[in-house]
Amino acid sequence: MPSSVMPTPRRHGDAQSPAAVSAVDLRKSYGDKTVLDGIDLRIPAGTVFALLGPNGAGKTTTVQILSTLVAADGGQAQVAGHDVATSPDGVRAAIGVTGQFAALDDLLTAEENLLLMADLLRLGKREGRARAKELLDTFGIADVAHQRAATFSGGMRRRLDLAMTLVGDPEVIFLDEPTTGLDPRSRRTMWDMVRALVAGGTTVFLTTQYLEEADQLADRIAVLDGGRIVAEGTADELKARIPGSHVRLRFTESADYERAAAAFPGAARDDDNLALRVAGDAGLDALRALLDRLDAAGIRAAGFSVHTPDLDDVFLALTGEGTASGATPPHLKETR
Ligand SMILES: Nc1ncnc2c1ncn2[C@@H]1O[C@H](COP(=O)(O)OP(=O)(O)OP(=O)(O)O)[C@@H](O)[C@H]1O
Ligand SMILES: [Mg+2]
Repeated sequence: MPSSVMPTPRRHGDAQSPAAVSAVDLRKSYGDKTVLDGIDLRIPAGTVFALLGPNGAGKTTTVQILSTLVAADGGQAQVAGHDVATSPDGVRAAIGVTGQFAALDDLLTAEENLLLMADLLRLGKREGRARAKELLDTFGIADVAHQRAATFSGGMRRRLDLAMTLVGDPEVIFLDEPTTGLDPRSRRTMWDMVRALVAGGTTVFLTTQYLEEADQLADRIAVLDGGRIVAEGTADELKARIPGSHVRLRFTESADYERAAAAFPGAARDDDNLALRVAGDAGLDALRALLDRLDAAGIRAAGFSVHTPDLDDVFLALTGEGTASGATPPHLKETR
């Protein structure tokens, strides 16, 4: 996408960057149903954060609270330096929100939708027109600029919806399931757009059901289940946490192989290939310890490979078997 439409570069995020979004002990109930049971978040500026969770876990509720559409019952949250409870206008001026369901005016054309947004943001006629044109070009919808949104396919609606979110050049954008219903090509286009935004320093908070999406885009991922964050980390950290991780050690000398098998009595043997499968944590520290142990015993391995489960395994393991089997776990039952 042309760089002209991208926001002026902001400071790129790392763990030490100021938080673009932070929350402490956020709580929300509807009636006697507890949706958020105390969640904490810290998202460095200029990074992508993905919130995962089964249907009804509270992802949209979290986005609504952080974007000031819904008040929390307890806890604090700051977005772009503004408190959501005491400075909602400050938050609103700094963010863009693309909801789970596109918020377009069907009776207006694509261009009119963008101009309306520019008007709402008081951009001024000329600037508004220029911005609308840039965004129409960037999102590949310039050729349908004068068609009514009602005639758009799902993918085109999503693009226009995201374009509307970007009219005001927000510091932080919330994308609630941005690619649900998109075909693989449109999904990749959307991912490229998100990457380009982040390269320009924007902070992105996204929710998704697609684990590959979190894997591809997110610097950090949190899994929400039963009202709590049940796991948080990089995709690799999450994968390394669940059973199924193992290191496969290969040997060329059968003497080495046998000595290693004796050193790791729990390992599964593959006698034909002189390979051992050592189950356990596939994180860096565990791997280093394993190699040190071989070294100390003077055993030469010909090679090793680390196997980690994918995010689907993580999701299913962390969010309860009810989700995997299609049955609704008690904590996800709707109260309405
Ligand atoms: N306005 C409301 N009134 C009553 N209950 C609500 C309201 N909004 C959300 N809920 C309930 O809160 C729970 C969490 O809903 P939420 O929309 O945040 O889930 P989600 O994680 O976004 O799910 P999905 O993946 O289906 O989009 C659900 O049980 C839902 O029925
Ligand atoms: Mg939702």
